[in-house]
Amino acid sequence: MELNSRKEHWNNVYSKKQPHEVSWTQEIPETSLKFIHSFKLKKSAKIIDIGGGDGKLVDYLLDEGFENVSVLDISEKAIERAKQRLGEKASKVNWIVSDVTDFQPTHLYDCWHDRATFHFLTRKSDLNKYLSIARKAASSFMIIGTFSDKGPKKCSMLDVHQYTEVELQEQLQNGF
Ligand SMILES: C[S@@+](CC[C@H](N)C(=O)[O-])C[C@H]1O[C@@H](n2cnc3c(N)ncnc32)[C@H](O)[C@@H]1O
Repeated sequence: MELNSRKEHWNNVYSKKQPHEVSWTQEIPETSLKFIHSFKLKKSAKIIDIGGGDGKLVDYLLDEGFENVSVLDISEKAIERAKQRLGEKASKVNWIVSDVTDFQPTHLYDCWHDRATFHFLTRKSDLNKYLSIARKAASSFMIIGTFSDKGPKKCSMLDVHQYTEVELQEQLQNGF
């Protein structure tokens, strides 16, 4: 999918569907939080949620006192929704509207979190761009959540690349 149509697709989703109408909504992002807690990060650690959408991970991180949280998403509609939900607290977050494959990080992130964005990069060129950006910007910990080889073949009507643990490890071996 081309860049503009990708953006259009996701803005359309976030304009038309409420959180309870999409399959990925989590009231409490338990697995992500469990991983993040296991890293024993300082509250000043830089954490970025790639393709965070209007997900609630950011709410929990702010409530736990994390001071440097960034949320990146291709859809400004998703970001607007997350900001509205957070109200005043939204000003504590660094919001980035960008396609992850165009992202130009200006500093390093102690924790790079991606739940269900990586698997949309079905073209080798996009995948390579993502990996090259992440290699430079992710300094310590990385969480990548994708559909497995036993999971659905599509998400939000888009094709996904299903990963086995081995394949994901192979993708993330070089330079991480
Ligand atoms: C399935 S949703 C998951 C949302 C969130 N991570 C969660 O777990 O609730 C995928 C998210 O990735 C975003 N996204 C898809 N492709 C992207 C891209 N190339 N760059 C940045 N964000 C992207 C979408 O806008 C959407 O918010």
